[in-house]
Amino acid sequence: MHTGMESPRGVWWKPAHGSEKLWFSLAFGWCMVLFAMMPLWHWKGGQNPSGIRGKVDPAEYRARVQEFIAAYQVGMDGAFPIVEPPPGADIYMLGQMWSWTPVLKLRKGVEYTLHLSSADVNHGFALYPINVNFQVVPGYDYALRIRPTEAGDFRVICNEFCGIGHHMMLGRIIVVDEDGRVPGDVAISHGAGVSEDAATSAEAAHGHAAAPGAEVSR
Ligand code: CUA
Repeated sequence: MHTGMESPRGVWWKPAHGSEKLWFSLAFGWCMVLFAMMPLWHWKGGQNPSGIRGKVDPAEYRARVQEFIAAYQVGMDGAFPIVEPPPGADIYMLGQMWSWTPVLKLRKGVEYTLHLSSADVNHGFALYPINVNFQVVPGYDYALRIRPTEAGDFRVICNEFCGIGHHMMLGRIIVVDEDGRVPGDVAISHGAGVSEDAATSAEAAHGHAAAPGAEVSR
């Protein structure tokens, strides 16, 4: 009979076999490589860009967004204001259950400082189809210096589960080119399936994994 006083049958207390030590060392070494990749990617790979962070009261942030909308609103997209800020401006987006306010109309090749914050719970800012993904946290203003490198009609998708309406939390960022046009609009207005224009921009979006449409600088 086995009691707590007796050692159970087994080999676990015997010294580790050479091959076990070897595998452990390999696994530990690989962990260290992956660990080193985090700061390396941060500084060398252009990923995880350093933002400008600050604490902000959610009510105060909402007031800033309202002020921003009032100053640069150019129209409405359904229930959401479309805002076209001047080059170099501080631009704002507010995430809340379950929408992104406002719709931003930006210009290709122009730098902006994009501020993100939430009015309620954690949200995720994912810019589709570009590989850009950020946490949007209540109480914090997270700003990124961005320069859109591609014109198009982009969607902001919430990437952090935030409740029953999470899957409907869609936002919109329109990037116009030097002539004030959006390439995708041409295909839609002609109504002839995929035009050359749309095909080119889709190709560009997929082919530029290493050089995304929104360039984030530090
Ligand atoms: Cu907001 Cu999910």
